[in-house]
Amino acid sequence: MGAPIIVAQGLGKKFTLGAKREPYTALREVIGRKARALLSPGGKAKAGNEFWALKDLDFSINEGDRVGIIGRNGAGKSTLLKVISRIIDPTEGRAEIRGRLASLLEVGTGFHPELSGRENIFLNGSILGMSRAEITARFDEIVAFSEVERFLDTPVKRYSSGMYVRLAFAVAAHLEPEILVVDEVLAVGDAEFQRKCIGKMKEVSSGGRTVLFVSHNMAAIQNLCNTAMYLRHGKLVVQGNTPAVVAEYLRATDAGPSSDLAARMDRQGNGAVRFTDFTLGTPDGGELAAAQTGSAVVFRFDFQPGPGPVNNLHLAMGIDDVYGQRILHLSNETTGQVFARAQESTRISILVPRCPLLPGTYGFTLFSTVNGEVADYIFNAGTFHVESGDFFGTGRLPAGDQGAFTTEHSFILS
Ligand SMILES: Nc1ncnc2c1ncn2[C@@H]1O[C@H](COP(=O)(O)OP(=O)(O)OP(=O)(O)O)[C@@H](O)[C@H]1O
Ligand SMILES: [Mg+2]
Repeated sequence: MGAPIIVAQGLGKKFTLGAKREPYTALREVIGRKARALLSPGGKAKAGNEFWALKDLDFSINEGDRVGIIGRNGAGKSTLLKVISRIIDPTEGRAEIRGRLASLLEVGTGFHPELSGRENIFLNGSILGMSRAEITARFDEIVAFSEVERFLDTPVKRYSSGMYVRLAFAVAAHLEPEILVVDEVLAVGDAEFQRKCIGKMKEVSSGGRTVLFVSHNMAAIQNLCNTAMYLRHGKLVVQGNTPAVVAEYLRATDAGPSSDLAARMDRQGNGAVRFTDFTLGTPDGGELAAAQTGSAVVFRFDFQPGPGPVNNLHLAMGIDDVYGQRILHLSNETTGQVFARAQESTRISILVPRCPLLPGTYGFTLFSTVNGEVADYIFNAGTFHVESGDFFGTGRLPAGDQGAFTTEHSFILS
């Protein structure tokens, strides 16, 4: 215990925007991306289309540490895990890894889609340098944990994302790597499975093995990790004990709502609509930098319709607190509003007449369907801020540690 097992020196990763663009990318997205590269502070290039997703990282991680890696969307967390897992090479500097490493990154990496669950278990084990006998000894445990026994001989490309993640997690956690790297995938599972995974990661690390865990869920990070790293615009802001690092992360507020939707590559759906922009506004069409408790706010989502008809457009916005817990769900399915034809539209707005959220920073996930099929789904699509306001006309609001929102109420003495 205690000896450095991962040491990074001057680590940097530069991406060239547009180098690996999908063929169907709209021109507007390319322009949006370039504009952002010019405008955004820090990391990104002043001209041209290169930017540093990671820059000048120096850190060391000790054997047996449970390290939480936190930061806002696009901070470079996943890129860091990919560099450490040797899935991509750093542009500068180096990361020395002194142990066998198993990683669970985004759905779709790590497994061979054409092979069955069973074959993938053996493939992963042999990549980790285990013998067939060693893998066989672990096999039943992996299958029991994953709960996909019935589908063991089905190619994993036919698995649902939940099944996929269950098996991938079971494989990564049970094949006895010295370093276990997990990126957010727990979000795909249900609450019970998430608890099981956190428990398993604790167990893995109590055996002296090292765990690196990326999550937006601060409750999970605080529960699991004894140390944490906070990344911002590709730089390491602070590394240290978890409560101090989380406090620093919660203090840091980036001005204005984030709206990097067009450039997001980590989205799912058939593209019948694609969301490009998120802004906060007032009912009369004005812009807002932040919402205010008790005042009207409009969540505006700009979108581009795909080539086909946009029938029965459905949008859901799931709002999370800073701990990553879902606290509110706004959807035109629950309001009962039907948008049968939206082909000519480019914006869908959600009006909240009196914002019930207390001051703070909130994240949101965007989910839309067209004609019952998932059209655009962006997990952790962005953040926005709520400033304090006079909800009750008394100049008073509940204190910051008294929940995430308030509601109209009155007292009766009888
Ligand atoms: N292959 C790539 N080509 C170009 N840019 C990329 C590539 N992969 C990531 N990026 C960009 O690098 C930056 C860091 O991305 P990364 O996925 O590491 O962020 P993250 O901290 O994991 O964010 P999130 O919380 O949304 O998962 C982002 O601006 C992203 O768009
Ligand atoms: Mg990520």
